[in-house]
Amino acid sequence: MTQSVGTRIALRPAEPSEARRLYALIQANLEEGHLLPRTRSELAVHAARFVVAVRGRKIVGCAELAALSPQVAEVRSLAVDRAARGHGIGGAIVDELRRRARRQGFEKLCAFTHAPGYFSEMGFSIVPHTWLLEKIFTDCVKCPHFRACGQYAMVVPLDTAFDAERGAGRPASAALAMTR
Ligand SMILES: CC(C)(COP(=O)(O)OP(=O)(O)OC[C@H]1O[C@@H](n2cnc3c(N)ncnc32)[C@H](O)[C@@H]1OP(=O)(O)O)[C@@H](O)C(=O)NCCC(=O)NCCS
Repeated sequence: MTQSVGTRIALRPAEPSEARRLYALIQANLEEGHLLPRTRSELAVHAARFVVAVRGRKIVGCAELAALSPQVAEVRSLAVDRAARGHGIGGAIVDELRRRARRQGFEKLCAFTHAPGYFSEMGFSIVPHTWLLEKIFTDCVKCPHFRACGQYAMVVPLDTAFDAERGAGRPASAALAMTR
């Protein structure tokens, strides 16, 4: 399924053959976004978990929906090309991950970030890291910055009532219509 964001940007799942381009986009934003380093091979294996924003043939944004447990999914490797920022692409990608996560039966969507303001605008709340033990046991314990990373743990519930109240996680509109 592909979803158009305005007239020139479309959202769709990534393909394994795009691992090199995903890698390049994530690498370019690694420092600024304090993103988890990824390898090309894991990106190829997990390509289907990624939503990409494309303009023509160029990938201008991406993020992965990664399961931390049967209840909790994480927004990972969110990055938008510098030249394409400020047009709602990052927000549209997160909204799409939220819809996917809800369809897949997760109860919560979380993010670990140095940009809490960005995620709180989208309905996420800061929570203690210990509320997300799934993340601590999968990634944090292996990380050299464990206990000193400075990242905020943020969570949004995936229930429909919550979304209806804030008008988020909305279905694809004319400006945001999945086409593949
Ligand atoms: C964060 C990022 C994905 C946003 O992408 P985007 O397509 O520009 O996002 P949107 O267009 O949906 O939203 C833009 C809005 O978010 C705000 N915003 C962007 N980064 C922000 C931050 N770090 N903190 C708070 N607000 C932020 C912008 O000021 C803008 O606000 P406005 O609409 O009032 O002008 C992009 O800046 C990026 O790739 N940054 C580097 C990697 C990164 O930080 N990833 C997230 C780490 S978890």
